[in-house]
Amino acid sequence: MAKKTPRALVAGNWKMNGTKTSLREVRLLVSMLKGVRLKCDVMICPPATLLTKVRDLTRSSRVITGGQDCHASESGAHTGDLSAEMFADAGAGAVIVGHSERRADHGEANGDVRAKATAALRAGLTAIVCVGETHDERKSGATLRVISAQVKGSLPEGASADNTIIAYEPVWAIGTGLTATADEVAQVHRHIRKRLSALVGEEQGSRMRILYGGSVKPGNAAELMAVANVNGALVGGASLKAADFIGIIKAYT
Ligand code: 13P
Repeated sequence: MAKKTPRALVAGNWKMNGTKTSLREVRLLVSMLKGVRLKCDVMICPPATLLTKVRDLTRSSRVITGGQDCHASESGAHTGDLSAEMFADAGAGAVIVGHSERRADHGEANGDVRAKATAALRAGLTAIVCVGETHDERKSGATLRVISAQVKGSLPEGASADNTIIAYEPVWAIGTGLTATADEVAQVHRHIRKRLSALVGEEQGSRMRILYGGSVKPGNAAELMAVANVNGALVGGASLKAADFIGIIKAYT
């Protein structure tokens, strides 16, 4: 029997961007998506301050909401942190963990990411686990080794195709306008697919979604999304404007 390809996901990571005025972009997106036959899931991960508002605006649409980063614990004395349970309570269906900006800015190692991803599953959320090599690592030929270690070390306990998504985001391509070539993306995604099959079994590994992220734009989305083992995109800058985001989603219409 032919293998079923997983349903694609186009997720927007707003990072530390967005205030109430940005909600007009969400309204615009919802209205632009009306009547469009979507062949992918669509998600917005706004800052936590906007999550319930975005959830309210998207409730009647097919747009789902996600959080950005969570603490590994359910609750406690951790000023400024948010738990996976809080994101679930606010209406999120997923949470991004292990983003390279968290790994760089907050010194998060694979073990921290695994604990956060495991917390996401505990709260009933989908864990979107980010991996990616730096420019130096790519230059020195370490890309696949780094990715292997990140995937193995960051996957949550109990990971399955239904509760975990991997996002491959080469650090040097994030916010730089540089994108990996289709060949580079194909090589890393194939490698991740193989590692997943070894880690969670062939059946789950073949169905787990692997997103590409790093300067995805309307102009390059169709080419990148057509690469084998690319099951969607994690979009930063271009997800902030509905018109750009929809231009990427259209790679799947
Ligand atoms: P850009 O699309 O702005 O390069 O960001 C990618 C990213 O980091 C998404 O998580």
